[in-house]
Amino acid sequence: MKTILSVMFLALLSAAPAIAESMDKGDAKIGKTLHDKSCIACHASKFGDNGNGIYTRADRKATNKQQLTARIKACNNNVGAGWFPEEEAHVAAYLNTSFYHFK
Ligand code: HEC
Repeated sequence: MKTILSVMFLALLSAAPAIAESMDKGDAKIGKTLHDKSCIACHASKFGDNGNGIYTRADRKATNKQQLTARIKACNNNVGAGWFPEEEAHVAAYLNTSFYHFK
């Protein structure tokens, strides 16, 4: 089980840079719609306020574009939102322009 998880994690890491680049081509407006539909309720129930505080908390986990895209991918897979890479890019564009502001 541990091995399977590490392999999956490595696969995730190697896929992340390409997606990080496509973040710049994502459409933040489409991303917001996708995000608000599939992601906000759980973050709000776990982290309070409107669910967006998770992205601006002092000890937030994503500290660069690669980590942000990896987190989006992981949450997408965990919750079975079933997004395609383009849709992940839209959400990445939304989260980056609204909260993270990574260059
Ligand atoms: C079932 C609950 C749940 C759902 C649904 C969920 N998340 Fe999360 N998400 C979490 C939790 C819990 C964390 C915090 C993990 C941690 O602190 O290590 C998190 C963290 C994140 C982070 C990192 C925040 C940071 O610290 O920088 C991102 C980005 C994120 N989620 C994106 C998404 C996206 C996109 C979706 C929709 C597909 C989604 N999440 C749906 C539970 C959820």
